[in-house]
Amino acid sequence: MTIITVEHVSKQFEQSVGEGTQTVTALHDVSLKVGSGDVLAILGPSGCGKSTLLRIIAGLIAPDKGDVLYDNVSLRQIPLKDRGIGMVFQDHALMPHWESGKSVGFFLWLRQREHEVPERVHRIAQITGVGIEQLLERKPSHLSGGEQQRVAIARALTRDPRVFLFDEPFSNLDAKLRAEARVELKRLLHEFPVTSIYVTHDQHEATALAPRIAVMREGHIEQVGTYRHLYENPINLFVATFIGVIPINLFQGSVRDSRWHGEYFGGYSVRKDIPDGTRLTLGVRPESISLTPAETQDASVEEVTPYFAERFQLVTVRAGRERWALTLPPETPVAVGDACRCALDTQALLFFDTRTGTRVG
Ligand SMILES: Nc1ncnc2c1ncn2[C@@H]1O[C@H](COP(=O)(O)OP(=O)(O)OP(=O)(O)O)[C@@H](O)[C@H]1O
Ligand SMILES: [Mg+2]
Repeated sequence: MTIITVEHVSKQFEQSVGEGTQTVTALHDVSLKVGSGDVLAILGPSGCGKSTLLRIIAGLIAPDKGDVLYDNVSLRQIPLKDRGIGMVFQDHALMPHWESGKSVGFFLWLRQREHEVPERVHRIAQITGVGIEQLLERKPSHLSGGEQQRVAIARALTRDPRVFLFDEPFSNLDAKLRAEARVELKRLLHEFPVTSIYVTHDQHEATALAPRIAVMREGHIEQVGTYRHLYENPINLFVATFIGVIPINLFQGSVRDSRWHGEYFGGYSVRKDIPDGTRLTLGVRPESISLTPAETQDASVEEVTPYFAERFQLVTVRAGRERWALTLPPETPVAVGDACRCALDTQALLFFDTRTGTRVG
């Protein structure tokens, strides 16, 4: 299996605007490593450079600066035929430098060459279930988008790739199919470990498939870690707000005598070296806010949304100009208009420099 190393890769594009052109920095000094047989997800908003990075790792485009290595050998020194890359894109499957079996259905092609691949194909079909065998008999043009993607993945696996690269392969599928395809892919990668990179802007998908996630923004990798680490220890406001299905609550405030004071909440200790007057944003996850009924009307419940499947209710509370969300067990009695008091779990407070966004506590 192959170790992928990305070393200080930068890439700019010229884009035409009106009469002239402008230079866009798609990647800026990106470095990362994917261990042999590991799966890394690259997660980030649209336009942050995910596909560009993946294409550079595939050797489809060259970086302006930096290098990509497979097992410590620069991609530039590996002939195309020896790269062994399996790639699955959003709208079409593409396996560079491998015959595609375009006009013949994949299954027919396999039967002609059965002696080369039988055991592996048999296992793949077993893992993906009956579905795939039926699909494999059809011509690609007779397959739906989701079916094409599944066949593309199965086909790539039969060729025993060194590296597997995915660029939002399931983003055109509906939610149910997407979840199924994800489970199937996970099973396949478990059975046939291949060093893989999976690009997505969907955090569910990233967590489902990859133990490690790299969060990208504007051509930079902001942070790499497990979902839990990114969720609990984001290094800046961007990661804190990007990670989390229910957005993190943010409160504005400032420091006085090494304590943070906001509008409704306040009095929490911060690092001693932060000067008085520094503006800090406090981030608190919804599950780290508790709610108790109160007599006074200083805070009140504004909205209650049940999430039956997830077994919680999402409660929005308002006090003055501030508003925050918290989660409660489904059986907790709570209604719109209830007067309440909220408290924060002081173990779970995240402080960020409001000006720079950097985490400071
Ligand atoms: N061939 C190209 N020519 C000019 N600009 C490009 C080219 N490819 C990408 N870009 C620009 O580089 C930036 C990064 O694009 P990229 O496709 O890598 O983003 P992405 O993270 O994959 O986005 P999405 O989630 O929408 O697919 C964008 O500003 C994009 O407009
Ligand atoms: Mg993309």
